[in-house]
Amino acid sequence: MKGNITFTMIKPTAVSKGYSAPILNMIHENGFRISAMKMLQLTENDAKEFYAVHKERPFYSDLVGFMSSGPIIAAILEKDNAVEDYRKLIGATDPAKAEEGTIRKLYAATVQENAVHGSDSDENAEAEGIFFFSMKDRF
Ligand code: CMP
Repeated sequence: MKGNITFTMIKPTAVSKGYSAPILNMIHENGFRISAMKMLQLTENDAKEFYAVHKERPFYSDLVGFMSSGPIIAAILEKDNAVEDYRKLIGATDPAKAEEGTIRKLYAATVQENAVHGSDSDENAEAEGIFFFSMKDRF
């Protein structure tokens, strides 16, 4: 059965450019309920751990530096078929390949500074949610 939660981060450049409110509005307008949310700055170790699956990739250390460079917004989103529907809403990882009207097409700068993260599976949505939020932080 498809899960009903996904996890997202609004990344440092999108936050610093003032895109958080329009991105959160798109999330709301597209039928997602925000069940947990906070603004925080990742430490380098947090970013290394969160993106550990990419540690052999050539972009890993740049990605860790970028993701710990400034505040982010982390959130758990609820909706039927949340993972797949949110990935459609955010568009391709590389904003140059993202469809018109997607969050990344509208607000991403580059493949690294691609405005938002979205979980790629129900299992990762659970694990990523747990990374940031205890049960008492969820509503
Ligand atoms: P995200 O959805 O957060 O998941 C992994 C991140 O790695 C991705 O978004 C990008 O920020 C980054 N990433 C993926 N591919 C590349 C790439 N080819 N070059 C630089 N960064 C990348």
